Amino acid sequence: MYAKRISSLPPYLFAEIDKRKKEARKKGIDIIDLSIGDPDLPTPPHIVEAACRAAKDPLNHRYPSYEGMLSFREAVAAWYNRRKHISLDAEDEVLTLIGSKEGIAHSTFAFLDHGDIALVPDPAYPAYKNATLLANGIPHSVPLTEENEFTPDLESIDKEAVRKAKIMFLNYPNNPTAAAVEKSFFKEIVDFARDHDIAILHDNPYSELTFDGYEAPSFLAVDGAKDVGIEFNSLSKTYNMTGWRIGYAIGNSDLLKGLRLVKTNVDSGVFQAVQAAGIAALTGPQGGVKANLAVYKERRDILFDGLKSAGMEVKKPKATFYLWAKVPSGFLSIRFSLLLLDRAGVVVTPGIGFGDAGEGFVRFSLCVSKERIKEACERLERLDI
Ligand code: MLT
Repeated sequence: MYAKRISSLPPYLFAEIDKRKKEARKKGIDIIDLSIGDPDLPTPPHIVEAACRAAKDPLNHRYPSYEGMLSFREAVAAWYNRRKHISLDAEDEVLTLIGSKEGIAHSTFAFLDHGDIALVPDPAYPAYKNATLLANGIPHSVPLTEENEFTPDLESIDKEAVRKAKIMFLNYPNNPTAAAVEKSFFKEIVDFARDHDIAILHDNPYSELTFDGYEAPSFLAVDGAKDVGIEFNSLSKTYNMTGWRIGYAIGNSDLLKGLRLVKTNVDSGVFQAVQAAGIAALTGPQGGVKANLAVYKERRDILFDGLKSAGMEVKKPKATFYLWAKVPSGFLSIRFSLLLLDRAGVVVTPGIGFGDAGEGFVRFSLCVSKERIKEACERLERLDI
């Protein structure tokens, strides 16, 4: 019945966690959900209003253009120029996506043939590995270890895998480890990509979720990056728009052409009213982004202190809305997550869900109110782990 390619495809991590949450709720457990990175704060009103206005215009009821409205792509280019000091040609170097996850998944079909290797960080957002499997590619795991501050040790990647690899996924600020890098790291990556003829697919949805004076660089900010790769970004986390499904890919125009070719054959673009919302987000007042950061920072500090008091080992992140904490000794990450769910009603994501190298950790997200985070910390402390 099913194609062979899906037999190796695991269930999507967050869909599985959803099932567990539902079961726990059915049992009457009061759940505090610190699992998925899905902003609980609303999309700012000027963005919603722009969408409502555009939804009333019959012109927007027809098919959108495949690569996205030029006005949306220009808004992306202007935003990148302003925020990351990168100049992009809106026509050739920006492609609109139905959320960056869609572009990530379709890029494997554009760049991998049967048996081609993708270098995939481990732990990582599951879509990189699973999309590779779906395209019949071979994910070659690149461990991100604590000793290396959760960045890949390029020298230690198997030489044969490097020789055969066609693409490499990267993601900084990093999900799930919350690692943050400087521009010099991307310089090394560009050299590596050039030396080994590997296309870099950098995923940057947390680029604006930064604290304590840290600013996240774009991969494309390095000289030569545009020759070797593309960057995915999304409006989801920056503007509280996960439900809207809008993101984009930027950078190397040839790579984008390949991705566009796949997309034109499988989807028909993003509803133009959603693109109008995107334009309002990227070009309108940015006060909401700052306000979000203040909220997440306060939550981060409360959770960090709470986890410490509960006896957990964790570092305070300077980017993303995740805390990557070590599980207490004697536990595997799934068992520890189940214990938190069953005995405290606190849902976290087990590190193993992000790859084998994620074992030994659990991820806490900051997408519930500070009151609920405080309550979660109190429950953890009561567990006496
Ligand atoms: C996460 O929580 O890691 C992601 O936001 C989930 C997703 O994008 O599916």
